Amino acid sequence: MNSDWNNELTISVLSRLMTTETLLIKKKQTEKSRLHEVDFNNLGFGRIMSDHMFIADYRDGQWQNLRIVPYGDLSLSPATAALHYGQAIFEGMKAYKNNEGDTLLFRATDNWKRLNKSAERLCMPAVPEEVFMNGLTELVRLDSAWVPSQDGSALYIRPFMFSTDPYVGVKPSDTYTFIIFTGPVGAYFAKPPRVKIETQFIRSAEGGVGGAKCAGNYAGSLYPAKLAQEEGYDQLIWTDAHEHAYIEESGAMNVMFVLDDGTLLTPAVSDTTLDGITRKTILAIARHWGIPVEERRISVQEIISALKEGRLESAFGAGTAAVVSHISTIGYERLDYTLPDVKEDSFAKKVKEYLIEIYTGKTEDLFGWTLKV
Ligand code: PLP
Ligand code: COI
Repeated sequence: MNSDWNNELTISVLSRLMTTETLLIKKKQTEKSRLHEVDFNNLGFGRIMSDHMFIADYRDGQWQNLRIVPYGDLSLSPATAALHYGQAIFEGMKAYKNNEGDTLLFRATDNWKRLNKSAERLCMPAVPEEVFMNGLTELVRLDSAWVPSQDGSALYIRPFMFSTDPYVGVKPSDTYTFIIFTGPVGAYFAKPPRVKIETQFIRSAEGGVGGAKCAGNYAGSLYPAKLAQEEGYDQLIWTDAHEHAYIEESGAMNVMFVLDDGTLLTPAVSDTTLDGITRKTILAIARHWGIPVEERRISVQEIISALKEGRLESAFGAGTAAVVSHISTIGYERLDYTLPDVKEDSFAKKVKEYLIEIYTGKTEDLFGWTLKV
């Protein structure tokens, strides 16, 4: 990762430039809530949106016109730059209800920081912390009735930014829109995913945009993922661009492996993989519990040997949407390797339960990760 890939200074200068007036969030509430239409026992993932959204426009070098309005369609020029050249980045985060009915956000400032890392790589303006956090907290407060309390559900939060210049030449846009919308969700995977180790296509290469959470990374993954789905898999595990010999990450989550000696293995983060917030949360918990952790290059062969020799206790994906998703089968070079059933006392199971307890405020937040809004 580039050492100068860090724009905290720019962000703090930008924040200072914002006045109380420009930070003011205008609110227009919906006259017709859709909340009563929602079956909270059957949420699925990603199709139900809450009543409101937060919007900010970047014009004349300044974030302005901060507003919360009813969730709805946008009106865009067909020449909108993002639709052609893909200057579009996003984040994914969740809010949960605790037993007292308060709403808790999880590691929100980490998402804000990562959004701005992606922004810098895509030549987009940083979003000041005040804009991100005030917009987020006001929006979540207003739609707090949309935060589900059923087991396995949460309010998914999607902050995103895209370029808006109506211009067909290739250049960084001068104007942008930043939006946050939310929606109640259940599990991302209906069942433990079957994953295929991809050895033909790549998601990213050194010097590319793999470390940014940008729209194009997901667009490029759809075709290889579709081919894998036709073979009966749910997700891919990407490998390095040079040799297809080292594990990178999965389509919407980082991957982690537990060996039978208790070691937790995960590929080191580089500029070809997303620096997952769930991943670093799990690593911090593992270290706190005294579990041996190895973050390093992990070869495909190492995982396949461990599978063949029965030394791989579990493999799981870690991500905001996925939380901790146990992998049921790993496919590699036309062979399927089935993972053993998850044991009651396995790290994967325990860390998932502990994470959910932290998210929902059921255990003490030793690490200071949650924020009551
Ligand atoms: N890797 C990719 C490609 C993702 O889309 C995600 C999801 O956000 C992750 C990893 C996990 O990141 P996080 O835990 O921050 O959600
Ligand atoms: C998330 O976990 O928040 C993601 O962004 C993954 C996604 C593409 C649904």
